[in-house]
Amino acid sequence: MRGRLALGLFLLAGAGSLATTLCCKGTPPRNDGPPAERVPIGAAMEKIQEDFDRVMLAADDRKPADALEPARRMERLYGAVEPEKPEHRASADFAARLREAARLSGEAAGAAAAGDLGALRTARDSLDRACAQCHIQYREEKK
Ligand code: HEC
Repeated sequence: MRGRLALGLFLLAGAGSLATTLCCKGTPPRNDGPPAERVPIGAAMEKIQEDFDRVMLAADDRKPADALEPARRMERLYGAVEPEKPEHRASADFAARLREAARLSGEAAGAAAAGDLGALRTARDSLDRACAQCHIQYREEKK
């Protein structure tokens, strides 16, 4: 009985990896879905700040390509934010702001990939406003 179960599991695992091999080989990594891991908002925001600093530096230094990695990371992080407060978790507006920030990060990444400095600066400015507006609305006044 136990042997059968083990064999069954083995076959299942095999089928799973075969399915992965068949379906997803060569598919580029996607950034448009929330990753499985949720990140508590405080930790996520600290990382987002670091990446946003990198994006701003890249825009200032006229090196759009340098913004690609941090912008992609920000995009994923926004998709993974786990709000701490129940009223934030329950808020459709809060969720929409997170989605908008992820979308703008994706725009920054697209501009970086295209080497488009003007578009990168536009995305940076929009992100800057999105951060500030969400903080005004939802962040306790620490700063
Ligand atoms: C959807 C709303 C929202 C957006 C958009 C947003 N933030 Fe935040 N941010 C918050 C909230 C809420 C907190 C407070 C989190 C807490 O209490 O730990 C916070 C906290 C922070 C903190 C302090 C982290 C800590 O140690 O507690 C930093 C830094 C930060 N945000 C940076 C940014 C930057 C940079 C952006 C834009 C690129 C941004 N945030 C966009 C909601 C947002």
